[in-house]
Amino acid sequence: MSKTAVIYWSGTGNTEAMAKAIEGGLKSGGAETVLLSVSGKDAASAVEQCEKVAFGCPSMGSEVLEESEFEPFFASVEGKLASKKAALFGSYGWGDGQWMRDWQERLALSGASLFEEGLIMQEAPDEAACTEFGRRFAAF
Ligand SMILES: Cc1cc2nc3c(=O)[nH]c(=O)nc-3n(C[C@H](O)[C@H](O)[C@H](O)COP(=O)(O)O)c2cc1C
Repeated sequence: MSKTAVIYWSGTGNTEAMAKAIEGGLKSGGAETVLLSVSGKDAASAVEQCEKVAFGCPSMGSEVLEESEFEPFFASVEGKLASKKAALFGSYGWGDGQWMRDWQERLALSGASLFEEGLIMQEAPDEAACTEFGRRFAAF
């Protein structure tokens, strides 16, 4: 079975906590997983190797993806997602989730199959809900 990659950027740990909980849910749903920070060198090759990928990035700048690491990474892989199943998640602060709506539209243009709505959590996440999201993604 192909692995499921969970690839994230996190500045203060909230999206990282989501990523870890989602990975836990994937595993409990029977998936083989790989959890990677986007700044590691393996993230791009994991996207190529995995049929399913969960991408995590908080709302940064002004309702955009984090611009120094995550945005260039995502731009480099979005042309390779057409045959894949993808989940999106991330933490936010004071906004209304616009960054996630924009990200979902962008993912749809890539041709990937989007799993549910992107999971958004204000600041520190509800880890149990993240785990459930991962478990459902395992079955997608
Ligand atoms: C530079 C900066 C820009 C941010 N911009 C937004 C924003 O546009 N909208 C929003 O809802 N939250 C914004 N936030 C809040 C973060 O999304 C929020 O604190 C989130 O929990 C950070 O996730 P992390 O702990 O994974 O880094 C911003 C935070 C920082 C530090």
